[in-house]
Amino acid sequence: GAPIEVDLTPIQDGQIVNVFWRGKLIFVRKLTAKELTDMKAVPLSAMIDPAAFTTRVKNGHDQWLVVYGNCTHLGCVPIGHQGSFEGWACPCHGSQFDAVGRVRHGPAPINLPIPPYAFETDSKIRIG
Ligand code: FES
Repeated sequence: GAPIEVDLTPIQDGQIVNVFWRGKLIFVRKLTAKELTDMKAVPLSAMIDPAAFTTRVKNGHDQWLVVYGNCTHLGCVPIGHQGSFEGWACPCHGSQFDAVGRVRHGPAPINLPIPPYAFETDSKIRIG
C-alpha cells in the first residue's frame, strides 16, 4: 500500500484519531502535558514489555504517538481513555495499555507496535 499523510493540525491535546494504512487501523494520539509527565516517569519494572518512553515517540515530537490499533492478544480494538493507565482498555479480555501504547495489564504479551512513519513537517506525518 501507498504511504498516507496525516495532517496533525486539527488534533487536540488528548485526542485519538483513527486512520487506516494497508488495511490496518492506526491510532494517532496527541498526549496531554500530564500524560507526557506520567509516561516518562513509569519505571521499566512496572511494564510487561519494558520500553522507555523515548522508544515510543520520535525525538523532538514527544507529544505524538502513532501505534497500530489492534490488541496484541487476539486483535480486538482497544477503547481509548479507558483503564487504569491513561491509555486504552481492550473490551475482549481486559488487556490495558498506557498512553504510549505499552501493555500494562495482560493477557496481551507485547506493546502496541509502531508502524513506519516520519514527520514531514511539525504538523504532518507520513505513514509508510
Ligand atoms: Fe485484547 Fe484479548 S484481544 S485482551
